[in-house]
Amino acid sequence: MTPRLYVNLDHVATLREARGTTYPDVLEAALLAERSGHIHGVTLHLREDRRHVQDADVERVMAALKLPFNYELSCADEIVRHAERMRPAQATLVPERRAEITTEGGLDLELHGKLVGDTVARLQRHGVLVSLFIDPDAHSVKRSRELGATHVELHTGRYAHAFGSATAARELERLVVAAQAAQACGLVLNAGHGLTVANVGPVAALPGLNDLNIGHAIVAQAVFIGLEAALREMAQAIARGAITAPQHKDSGHASKQH
Ligand code: PXP
Repeated sequence: MTPRLYVNLDHVATLREARGTTYPDVLEAALLAERSGHIHGVTLHLREDRRHVQDADVERVMAALKLPFNYELSCADEIVRHAERMRPAQATLVPERRAEITTEGGLDLELHGKLVGDTVARLQRHGVLVSLFIDPDAHSVKRSRELGATHVELHTGRYAHAFGSATAARELERLVVAAQAAQACGLVLNAGHGLTVANVGPVAALPGLNDLNIGHAIVAQAVFIGLEAALREMAQAIARGAITAPQHKDSGHASKQH
């Protein structure tokens, strides 16, 4: 099965906020992506510091988009309240640190288990499907299930960073083991972070993978070839990866081939 592409459009907002202009418009990008036929949904991360996406972006996109919306957020009460009001199809809970450049690791489900579990329950009471962004290990997967989540998103950042180096096969293997654990627990499996046309193939072939959340590489490539073409390129790379990558019995070979 080919995993579905959710495009993360945070960095359209990054470009706008860099100059404090009204363009480029996140809604225009979301509607163009929807019309392209290459995506299954849109993701936005409303950060506590509002460094890129603003509340109004989420509200306008959710009002106009026909495809499902995935609301990425931390467990901060103020943002959770906004998500409760907005009732997106899906929410993805992520850790957030003010000084980080991007979401640098998965949720710490030991340190913040109570808060994460309570937030899962709050959102689910509003009919929202809740996914937890976690490091790719079987323990985090199991803990996500215990905390009531129905979905997990595996953090692919370490694999993406290692891609092309000697440690890539090991990082891919961690993703495979975590994916198998998610399947065994009956969790819906998503993945994302740092994925590009070059490195997405082996990830697209993870067992049972449902959705991929991909943003930065698509928006960056759109500068050169336009958003529609950048989405097409990514959708094609995902489809190719899902078909051609080995079934991860031997993931070392998988990473060497791509
Ligand atoms: N998934 C999550 C949970 C994220 O925090 C991000 C980054 O905002 C992504 C996916 C997308 O990562 P990238 O922009 O590197 O494709």
